[in-house]
Amino acid sequence: LSVLGVRNDLEGLRVLITAGPTVEPIDPVRYISNYSSGKSGYALAVAAARRGAQVTLVSGPTSLDPPKDVCFIGVRTAVDMLAACQRPFEKADIAIFAAAVADMRPATAADHKLKKGVDDDALAGIPLVKNPDVLATLAAQKDRQVVVGYAAETDDILENARRKLKAKHADVIVANDVGEGKAFNANDNKIWFVDEEGAEELPRMTKAALADVILNKALDCMR
Ligand code: CTP
Ligand code: CA
Repeated sequence: LSVLGVRNDLEGLRVLITAGPTVEPIDPVRYISNYSSGKSGYALAVAAARRGAQVTLVSGPTSLDPPKDVCFIGVRTAVDMLAACQRPFEKADIAIFAAAVADMRPATAADHKLKKGVDDDALAGIPLVKNPDVLATLAAQKDRQVVVGYAAETDDILENARRKLKAKHADVIVANDVGEGKAFNANDNKIWFVDEEGAEELPRMTKAALADVILNKALDCMR
């Protein structure tokens, strides 16, 4: 069925998508984060909703507007993102983890602004602890869900993607080169699909076009 280019081929499916960076507070005015714009994840949410899926988008802070026809859950930290994803994951048919989750967070967030001359020691060495891995934690619980992960790499892209596929129990990894200016905040991207079968290189395309290709791949994995 095709109406004005809209195919409802995801109707009846629940899709969970994570997007954007997470933000890990140091004190009330400072944080640790990364350059993720959220564009890939939001494009996925828009495309999945347009194709008829029931979409939950769990997103860290971005400058993008929540897409229409999507259940939007805004979060800040990795710990919050994991908590927000738990129930939607249990109900999901497809889960796509496009977020750039901060790997570490400050062990404690100061409740006051750290001040030069007063808190110099605290500012010079901020103790960090590891964040939970949202994808790996949820994929370990999967029953029917198709799990799509990303691999953001600057080197040895395919080798690292294969390692993440296995370590995180994902069904497919979307590998991309995040070297300067190449993926973060760009409107297009170049990816490889890495799964049990091997690696498939795709041509560079817009994030909107990529979203449909990635959803098609997830559908393939369901069959
Ligand atoms: N991911 C996650 N939670 C984390 C870290 C990563 O859910 N705490 C997910 C990302 O959303 C992505 C995949 O895991 O789908 C890979 O993220 P990436 O940063 O490329 O890999 P890491 O496993 O964090 O390893 P590293 O950053 O050292 O390459
Ligand atoms: Ca990481």
